[in-house]
Amino acid sequence: MDLLQRLGISQPIFVAPMAGTSTPELAAAVSNAGGFGALGLGASNAETAKQAILKTQQLTDQPFQVNFFCHQPTAYDAEKAQQWINYMRPHFEEFDAEVPNQLNEIYQSFISNDELLQVVLDTKPKAVSFHFGLPTAEQISALKQAGIITMVTVTQLSEAYLAQQAGIDVLIAQGVEAGGHRGTFNPSCDAGLTTLDLVIILNQYFDLPIVAAGGIMTGEDIRLYLELGASAAQLGTAFVQCKESAANDAYRELLFEQPITQITDNISGRPARGLLNAWHQFVDLPDRPSHAGYPYTYDLAKQLHAVASKQDEQGFGAYWAGSNVANIRRLDAKELMEKLVQELQ
Ligand SMILES: Cc1cc2nc3c(=O)[nH]c(=O)nc-3n(C[C@H](O)[C@H](O)[C@H](O)COP(=O)(O)O)c2cc1C
Repeated sequence: MDLLQRLGISQPIFVAPMAGTSTPELAAAVSNAGGFGALGLGASNAETAKQAILKTQQLTDQPFQVNFFCHQPTAYDAEKAQQWINYMRPHFEEFDAEVPNQLNEIYQSFISNDELLQVVLDTKPKAVSFHFGLPTAEQISALKQAGIITMVTVTQLSEAYLAQQAGIDVLIAQGVEAGGHRGTFNPSCDAGLTTLDLVIILNQYFDLPIVAAGGIMTGEDIRLYLELGASAAQLGTAFVQCKESAANDAYRELLFEQPITQITDNISGRPARGLLNAWHQFVDLPDRPSHAGYPYTYDLAKQLHAVASKQDEQGFGAYWAGSNVANIRRLDAKELMEKLVQELQ
């Protein structure tokens, strides 16, 4: 059975799960238009994850996926954290804000949180995908027993081998053009493959269905990846501007104004691609100290953005976007799906 039949969808189009930007409304609109809706739940706890899934199930009877982060939890290094706080201190002072004295683990890994697994087992979405690595063997086996399709982001061959060995059903092939966080299992082992090269190479070595992700903005782009052997395409940036997303006004507008993106690991503690802004330039100065690790670095970034945006300064936001953001179109989710389907044909 091909992937679309297995998922129960009619179009080879996935909206990317996007923590902080996904909403039940966006997921449902994509699923109702024949694509595969998604909820990015990497920043959610068990209760908020459950509420988002239940809400989506109220808005659509079509299938959708949910997504979690599987980073290897890193211990808090108080000395490194302090150095990073000191480096950011002038910016907090610029806004007369209190400088934090410690950083928090704002995102728990799915690996160490079986409450999230239980939510998935209880609510039974069609599929669950993972970013930054694999869940445990026990978690995969529980999902399989419940009949839930498992998917994982891979950025290189070695990660795809690990996913295959673990019994994962679908490979989300994320090229270096992708907006948001690189899904690399180990953030310091990034092969930097383009979406095109990654899809070609995965197709040569694996029989698993492949979903192309990274820099895909139009139906013509989707068709190219299908011709290269992908079963579907996953688009993030193209959907961020939709009225159904949770993006704030500043983010929405900047997507149309600023076409240059850059990868940095100094905003969150892991490499991620976003619109190049003043803050990117500051955090990437060659003489910076090393960041405080993931997700502690992100905690400081979010606190600084909150302080700055309260005073109408939006330049400290992490505006994740892929390298083809220049091709973005202003359409709501239903219109964008219709446009993509029309271009694809
Ligand atoms: C705002 C934003 C947030 C993202 N958050 C997640 C996430 O929570 N989980 C995930 O697996 N991928 C996430 N991604 C990456 C996407 O899954 C996908 O790889 C990427 O959007 C594809 O590239 P594109 O943005 O050029 O379409 C995010 C991407 C964006 C743009």
